[in-house]
Amino acid sequence: MSKFQLAIDGPAGAGKSSVSKEVAKRLGLDHIDTGAMYRAVTLQGLRLGIDFKTETDFTYVEDIDIDYKNNSIYLNGECVDKEIRTSLVANNVSVVAKQKIVRDKMVFIQKQIAENSNIVMDGRDIGYNVLPNADLKIFLNASLEIRAKRRLKDIQATGIDIELSELMKQIQERDEKDSTRKINPLKKAEDAIELDTTNMNVEQSVEAIISLTRKRDR
Ligand code: CDP
Repeated sequence: MSKFQLAIDGPAGAGKSSVSKEVAKRLGLDHIDTGAMYRAVTLQGLRLGIDFKTETDFTYVEDIDIDYKNNSIYLNGECVDKEIRTSLVANNVSVVAKQKIVRDKMVFIQKQIAENSNIVMDGRDIGYNVLPNADLKIFLNASLEIRAKRRLKDIQATGIDIELSELMKQIQERDEKDSTRKINPLKKAEDAIELDTTNMNVEQSVEAIISLTRKRDR
């Protein structure tokens, strides 16, 4: 495939990460999970003992090194794939991701990575902000209940017990914060194609996107 950039946005638990990873693998493209970057910045804040309920100074982001390569996220050179997936990180990430200083740095890194690559990038603001010239833009969505059920499965697989209703509340709160923030909110790009995966599994979602890339490629 010649140079191709695919932007995938959508709310929490819509399947962006797993679907994007598989699409990238099948099309021979790199995959960048931008949410993992914001999660890594959050993890570092927690490690520094920052209280995100009261903190207003996020300059610590200037001193950290974030890299995403070979499907893994690196914080100051340490692979933190597992550490960024805790509920503590998930419940604090929206506060970190709305800071201008954080977004400026992450979007700069993301644009730099994308500059000369064939890429699938997933996040919240990719289609209209990070890759406005992407060849194809997808907005992946699904009902709140199904998104929470998918996330419940992931969480239970790590041995943690949580009620579906509690998880639905957490996801809804995070979506609300991500959609209403001033800078780079969660938003569908005007030219994005919306794909509702409520009744689709990962394989069906992957196939639907690959079929759209073929149509775009002609
Ligand atoms: O995997 P999940 O859908 O739960 O979220 P994620 O993609 O790991 O993203 C975690 C958080 O990072 C989101 O809730 C947003 O607050 C933030 N984010 C963002 O602001 N902009 C992006 N491009 C990607 C993620």
